[in-house]
Amino acid sequence: MTANVFTDDFDFENRIVDTSEIPHDTLEGDNPLRPKTFDDYIGQEKVKENLRVYIEAAKLRGEPLDHVLLYGPPGLGKTTLSAIIANELGVNIRITSGPAIEKPGDLAALLTNLNPGDVLFIDEIHRMSRSVEEILYPSMEDFAIDIITGKGQMAASYHLPLPKFTLVGATTRAGQLSAPLRDRFGVVLRLELYSVEELADIITRSSEILGIPIEREGALELASRSRGTPRIANRFLKRVRDFAQVMSDGIITYEVAKTALDRLEVDALGLDQNDRRMLTAMINNYGGGPVGLDTIAAAIGEEAVTIEDVYEPYLMQIGFIARTPRGRCVTALAYEHLGLKAPRNTSTPQPTLFPAED
Ligand code: ADE
Repeated sequence: MTANVFTDDFDFENRIVDTSEIPHDTLEGDNPLRPKTFDDYIGQEKVKENLRVYIEAAKLRGEPLDHVLLYGPPGLGKTTLSAIIANELGVNIRITSGPAIEKPGDLAALLTNLNPGDVLFIDEIHRMSRSVEEILYPSMEDFAIDIITGKGQMAASYHLPLPKFTLVGATTRAGQLSAPLRDRFGVVLRLELYSVEELADIITRSSEILGIPIEREGALELASRSRGTPRIANRFLKRVRDFAQVMSDGIITYEVAKTALDRLEVDALGLDQNDRRMLTAMINNYGGGPVGLDTIAAAIGEEAVTIEDVYEPYLMQIGFIARTPRGRCVTALAYEHLGLKAPRNTSTPQPTLFPAED
């Protein structure tokens, strides 16, 4: 059993690089930073281009848009995109999440209250229960649900037609969706981590909306530490504004951005203490790997799914972690970044078609 080495002295809940939604990030709060049209939405060019075509075609035919599945790491704008889809279609959106739909009746109530063409957005759709999923299938396919009342000889079945709607499902883990559910989405789109330039554009747009003066070099510095994630970039902008006002004349320059993020212990590549501790644990306890996901999770006292959804996508993107058939490995690049000497046999394994099973 691996000792839980790092949990006692670190607050995992309060990461400045946290990607979970904060209340004012939700649509209900009417966050002014949230783009409302494709023209305002920066990045994800391929996804936008395709969606524009599908939406235009659906409108020309006077039909609802096919069901859409959006997947990718948290904080990349899946909820925002679903609201844009509804806006561009000129329909209403209802927002819920897999865990919030507890019983089949909850889903039936949502579906029967939609207007024709509306968008139903289900976040974390992979966390829906089996019984709810089972009434979702016929709803998606036939726009109808069968409701059974009573028991035994008194049982009766009613066929309830529904308005034709578009389901937009979002998930961080497309692999966890059941095949029958996945197959019912006509459009499946993967959101990618954003480039530094795109994030700097998002930060510049946000700073204009919030009235925060920022220089391009300041925006680029924030962007390069935002782990490819707009939600983190916008959070940095608000925190760094405080430093700019207290430390200098309120303008976010390169110097201000660098000093503020150094103070927040977010390094030049956006790694925080958690990332460094995870890499260090893999190096110190397991010689840099290969090591299984559950073993890493136990070593740092974090849930395996959080490591997989939140830490790993960025660490893999920057080439600090590689997945091999035998587990995760720390690469030579990561050793170098941490100021450590890589063991002689540390190569940078190539991405594999057969990711580790654990
Ligand atoms: N705010 C958050 N994500 C954004 C995006 N992709 N474009 C513009 N502003 C954003």
